[in-house]
Amino acid sequence: MKIAPSILASNFKNLQEDIKKIEEVADIVHLDIMDGHFVPNISFGFPIIKAVRELTTLPLDAHLMIEKPENYIDRFIDYGVDMISVHIEGNYHIHRLIYSIKKRDKKAGVAINPGTNISLIYPIIKDVDFILIMSVNPGFSGQNFIDSSLEKIENVVKIKKEENLNFEIEVDGGLNFEIGKRLKEIGCNILVFGDFFFRNFNESKIFMRNLK
Ligand code: DX5
Ligand code: ZN
Repeated sequence: MKIAPSILASNFKNLQEDIKKIEEVADIVHLDIMDGHFVPNISFGFPIIKAVRELTTLPLDAHLMIEKPENYIDRFIDYGVDMISVHIEGNYHIHRLIYSIKKRDKKAGVAINPGTNISLIYPIIKDVDFILIMSVNPGFSGQNFIDSSLEKIENVVKIKKEENLNFEIEVDGGLNFEIGKRLKEIGCNILVFGDFFFRNFNESKIFMRNLK
């Protein structure tokens, strides 16, 4: 089980302190990259990634909620990102995109929105290192977990078992202690925590150590 706090919910006035908190208990730093087109919000870009890279040796996981990610894959990698997920929605050449990440020896993932049918990811399920299942509509931190995501997650776990595949399963959006425990039982192995992690840091520390 890997814990991946999202710095979207961190205090940018004191990023260094929040990265230290992440390092105390987590395994991965989740970077939510939003361009104001793919999602109705703009987050942060390369200068912040550079700062995060200088502050930690933990793997950086870039979740790209942007149009035309193909124009930026190499730069994200040059800035030190270790894992990149691209959405199935709107990316016509998903296979090419996935291989442009793998070609650089980085982990490639496909992300899927709550309203998208999982059948769309079947054709590339054997090519990806991880699948990021969104459990909120992407764009903002602090939203409520969408319960119907559980069924989708269970289906992805089932396919993984049936086909004996190795991809990791990352769940992103609206997670708390209770949902985190449930997701572990189901068989997910990367959990993204945003708002909840930074708001309840002391309790999160204990909970996350137990969860692992
Ligand atoms: C939403 C992002 C999520 C989000 C997670 O678009 O992809 O990573 O920031 O934050 P919480 O846990 O607050 O939903
Ligand atoms: Zn995310």
